[in-house]
This record gives sequence, C-alpha cells and structure tokens, in this order.
Amino acid sequence: MQTTIRVVRHTHLPPRTIESVRSLFDAEYYEKFGPWDPDCPYGYSPADVHVIATNGLGIVGHVGFQRRLIDVGTVEVPVGGTGGVLVAPQARGAGLGALLMSRVREAMHTAGVDFGYLGCREDVAPFYTSCGWHRIRARERCFSRLDGTTIIESVDAPILICAATKTAESWPAGPIDLRGTPW
Ligand SMILES: CC(C)(COP(=O)(O)OP(=O)(O)OC[C@H]1O[C@@H](n2cnc3c(N)ncnc32)[C@H](O)[C@@H]1OP(=O)(O)O)[C@@H](O)C(=O)NCCC(=O)NCCS
Repeated sequence: MQTTIRVVRHTHLPPRTIESVRSLFDAEYYEKFGPWDPDCPYGYSPADVHVIATNGLGIVGHVGFQRRLIDVGTVEVPVGGTGGVLVAPQARGAGLGALLMSRVREAMHTAGVDFGYLGCREDVAPFYTSCGWHRIRARERCFSRLDGTTIIESVDAPILICAATKTAESWPAGPIDLRGTPW
C-alpha cells in the first residue's frame, strides 16, 4: 500500500484532515488522556506545522513541530519543538516513524530553525536516536502541561535534538528554559 507524506501548516489544515488526525490520536490516547485537541493536545504546546502520513486506510502517522525561541545557557535558540509523534499500530515496524522524523527535519530546515527539540519517555529514546537525533543532558525548565503555569525542572528526563540549519554538535551548553509548555 502506498504511503503519502504531506507537510501542512496548522492554519491550513482542512476540517476533514483535523477529524482524521483526531481519530488517529483518539484511538491511541482517548482512554488515558481524553480527546485530542489540535490547539492544546493533552496540555502540550500545539504544532504549527504537521507532517502527516496517509495510505489507503486513511491517516496512519503524524509528527508536528512548533517554532519557538528557547533559552539555552546565555543564548536564545530558535528550535522546532517536536511532538505528536504517532504511527497507527497496524503501520508500525515498517520504517514509517523514521520516514516521518526525516520529513519533519527537512520541514524544520525549510522553516529556518537551528535545531529540532523534543522530550520523551526513556523507553522510546532509542527510536529517536536511531532516526539520527542526539540525546543531550541538561537541566530543563518548562511549564507543566497539566496546568500551563506550574514550573517543572528536570535533570534526567530524555532530551533529544537534531540538526536543522545548524549541526547537532553546535548545540550550546547550559541549562534550558523552554519558555512555555513542552511539545
Ligand atoms: C514510536 C513510533 C512512532 C515508532 O514508529 P515505527 O513506524 O514503528 O518506527 P520505525 O519502524 O520507523 O522504526 C525505526 C527504528 O526505531 C526503532 N523503534 C521503533 N519503535 C520503537 C520504540 N517504541 N522504542 C524503541 N525503539 C523503537 C525500530 O526498531 C527501528 O530501529 P532500527 O532503525 O535500528 O531498525 C511508534 O511505535 C508509535 O507511534 N508508538 C506509540 C506512540 C509513541 O510512543 N510515540 C512517541 C512519543 S514520545
């Protein structure tokens, strides 16, 4: 079955596409986290660009990113905060997740951000490293997705970055302030 990947701005998502992406997320997360909200998905920051995979069965994969200036050490860094990484269960294990991560990286390069940035569970970090993302260690500060205001600081949660317009090696040293909720 042929798979098509599209890159769509959030503001250009047709209502029908929003409904299909909602079905993808609700099938995975409704029971645990309730309905998907495109403008505040589970309390995380929303994507302003969506990378969407479709095959004969409908939408089977999604990754999004939001451009944001964050603080790293003493400098401001434009990143593509990446989230909503999901492949439908029946399409997993065939390289679609890796393909989506490669396309989101291209889209971030086109958008002119320096790096891609994401946080994830420990068990899924190997997926991102196998897609060419790099794990970094730093103190991270952000607002909680649960209420959008409580400050959360962590030192050991997995943080991964990827090259966009800058190489991963040029990631600056120092503590990170996301200046908002994570993605
Ligand atoms: C994680 C996920 C997106 C991977 O998608 P996928 O299409 O199955 O991944 P791929 O087939 O492209 O796998 C690419 C590589 O990642 C590895 N990988 C895939 N899923 C993995 C996982 N959950 N944990 C660790 N490694 C994983 C594969 O073994 C493969 O490695 P290789 O290149 O060395 O062979 C998919 O399993 C998913 O949607 N999971 C549920 C949602 C989720 O956990 N999202 C991440 C939130 S942070």
